[in-house]
Parts: sequence; C-alpha cells; structure tokens
Amino acid sequence: MSATFTTTDILDLYRNEAQRHGDAGTSTIQDARTRRLELDALASYIRDGQRVLEIGCGNGYVAQELVSRFDIDLEAVDLSPDMIDVAKERDVSSSLGRVTFAVCDVLKLVAPEQFDLIFTERCLQNLPTWGDQSAALANIASAMKPGGEFVMHESFNSGHDNLNTAREEVGLPPIGPPWHNLFFDEAQVDGRMAELGCKRVDQNAFLSGYYFGSRVLMPKLLDDPTKAKSSSVLNDFFCALPAAGDFCPMKIVRYRKDG
Ligand SMILES: C[S@@+](CC[C@H](N)C(=O)[O-])C[C@H]1O[C@@H](n2cnc3c(N)ncnc32)[C@H](O)[C@@H]1O
Repeated sequence: MSATFTTTDILDLYRNEAQRHGDAGTSTIQDARTRRLELDALASYIRDGQRVLEIGCGNGYVAQELVSRFDIDLEAVDLSPDMIDVAKERDVSSSLGRVTFAVCDVLKLVAPEQFDLIFTERCLQNLPTWGDQSAALANIASAMKPGGEFVMHESFNSGHDNLNTAREEVGLPPIGPPWHNLFFDEAQVDGRMAELGCKRVDQNAFLSGYYFGSRVLMPKLLDDPTKAKSSSVLNDFFCALPAAGDFCPMKIVRYRKDG
C-alpha cells in the first residue's frame, strides 16, 4: 500500500500548521474535543518514573501537558524543524517531569532498548508507504526496553470502514481519509509487531462514541448534513457517549515487547 504524498508535502503541511497555530492545542487537530479525549487517553498509559519517547510531537502541546502531570523523562521528537522550533519555546521549568525537544525522522531513529514507553499520536500515518511504516515500527520496537510498551495512536481502516458503513446505512456519503494519511491495516500491524518481538496487549477505541455521535448522528439530525461542524454545542453531549463499537479511524493499539 502507498499514498500519493511525499515527505516534502508533509514538511510543507506542518510548516503551515506551525505558522497558523503556533503553540495552540488546535495545531494538527481543529476538533478541541478530540484533542482533550486524546490527551486523557494517552495520559492513562503514563506512570511516574518512566523514560518516555514521543514520536511526532508536533508543537509539543501534548508533551508539555504530560510533564505537567507526571514525573517522567520525556524525549519528544518530530520531523518538522518548524514544529520543533515552536515546541522549544515552551516554558516547562515548573513541571513535575522533564522534556527535551529535537528534530528526528522516525525512519532514522536509533536508540536501542532505551524507553519504558513510546507513543505516537497521528504520526506514522504520515509516512507515505507501508514499507516506510513497517521500517518505522522496527525502529520503535528496537527502542523499547524489554517489557516496554508502544502506545500507537494512529488511524486504522477498520474504524474508518465501520464509520462509513454506519453513514451509508443512514444515507450519508462516505468520509475519505485526508490526502496526507495512509491508514493502517490492523492485522498487518499486529503481524509486523509480532515479527519484531512485540505482542498486542489491547486496543482503546476511545473516540468511537464521539465519532458515532458527531459524524453519523449529528449530520443525520440536521436539515443540511453538510452544516455539521465539530464546534457544534451538540458535541458537548456526543463527546460524553460511551466508547462503544469501533466507529473512528483513530484509536490506540498497545504493544508490549517480550521481556
Ligand atoms: C498529525 S501531526 C500530530 C502532531 C502531534 N502529535 C499533535 O498531537 O499535535 C503528525 C506529526 O508527525 C510528524 N511526522 C511526520 N513524519 C514524521 C517522521 N518521519 N518522523 C517524525 N515525525 C514525523 C509531523 O511533522 C507532525 O508534526
């Protein structure tokens, strides 16, 4: 599988994002409720004392939040020098934990058995081919300590297909993947991670209820479905729906390296 975008397209995209959103939480995700749910979901895997690697940290918004809550050593890296320039401006001096920001391409990551926990947040889906994604997974597996965990928050075809099936059932058109994403096949990732000595622990489809509400129910409720927007007050209700089913492309799949 491969997409039609290039690494240059990705660098251009996030240069614009850094210019438009600066250090705001809206950077790379304009839906504020999705951002909050993501942050809380990622935080639920972190424990004081861990050495943590965030790959694709963007402007550092999540990293700053996590070190404000946890006494961890966090290395946060990103391909985009523009995003890292924004991240480095953050004042983290009064945080519980410590964070460093650096430019790094996950395809060049070399850090054997360094981290208790590694996480990505909508990053590996920006790699244009399965070959690149597969190589990135190998570098991540190598960087995990034995017994360490990889919390992979990325987009998968399974949730995307379920969402569009639900939309079709109520007469709504499908939503396509953004041009800059190559979604994952879960079984393919499980197989690759197993080859790399990492077993799947569980999944967390924490956005499923919210997406079912905001991307299926809300447009169906409106006279004009194209008027559905993430800033709608209706989403104050939908974002509190239970995470039933698997109705969002984005979810967390967790892997543990053999100890
Ligand atoms: C959708 S954004 C998410 C950023 C951040 N996690 C957030 O929540 O705002 C994806 C990020 O992955 C970074 N990225 C893309 N390809 C990468 C690569 N090969 N190595 C490291 N980071 C990469 C991009 O520069 C971008 O900042």
